[in-house]
Amino acid sequence: MKNLTLFGMPIALDEKTGKLTSNEPDVCWEDYSRKYSGKMAGLLADPDYKTEDEPYYDFYKAIVKNSTRSTFSDVDLRYDSTVILPGTAGKEFKKTAGHFHLPIPGKSYSFPELYQVINGTALFVMQRVDDYQKEEPMTVKDLLLAEVHAGETVVIPPDYGHCTVNIGEGTLVFINLVSVNSMNYYDSVKQSHGMSAYIYKTENGYQIEKNPNYVFECEPKVVVPADSPKLGISKDCPVYTEFLKNPALYRYLNEPEELQEEFFAMLKEK
Ligand SMILES: [Fe+2]
Repeated sequence: MKNLTLFGMPIALDEKTGKLTSNEPDVCWEDYSRKYSGKMAGLLADPDYKTEDEPYYDFYKAIVKNSTRSTFSDVDLRYDSTVILPGTAGKEFKKTAGHFHLPIPGKSYSFPELYQVINGTALFVMQRVDDYQKEEPMTVKDLLLAEVHAGETVVIPPDYGHCTVNIGEGTLVFINLVSVNSMNYYDSVKQSHGMSAYIYKTENGYQIEKNPNYVFECEPKVVVPADSPKLGISKDCPVYTEFLKNPALYRYLNEPEELQEEFFAMLKEK
């Protein structure tokens, strides 16, 4: 078992099974689900890749210490975790399905989402398109690939569809902090056979392949996240702990307009 101190509460990873556990009765989660490779059919670079029952990733919804529950619900935020097992489907690194967020009620843009990597290394694929609900191929206006190591945090800007890829050798564990009112939209990513970039394993790391089911008006850009006091992001400081110190600071996850520029300013070109 590996203790994951970046969680901000006592949670350990069983590296053999990829499962999270806590020996503290105060720590709980609302729901747990495991996605198998059969459910990833149609989302992978290789349309012929066929394995039905290989574990792909786990989702733990609303992880909380009971004693801090109201601090989250008072500001309409939820703290979840995803665990992506190591490995590839053919040449392509394991990843999450990918989705967009629906607009904030009464607004023309969607909720942002904060992600912190707890263990391993992630590549966050973030794409802005012309219209994520249309039938024809989507046109990619901006494609950012954020390399994020354990202890680092990235914020997905409003309107950016996103998926997470495990580009490391080990198990990838990350958390997200998101509005409880944010709704995911999966259909257009499914129709496009995944996000606009596929990430292949190579001898020295990874390689980016454009998904031919999209039209591109830009080239993919690899970025790395920096600290951002305005967004409450500080390397190696658990987001859970930082949030509890100052919950009001994370109001931007429900009201992102004021900090729109900061979401991009904290991403540096690699
Ligand atoms: Fe999301």
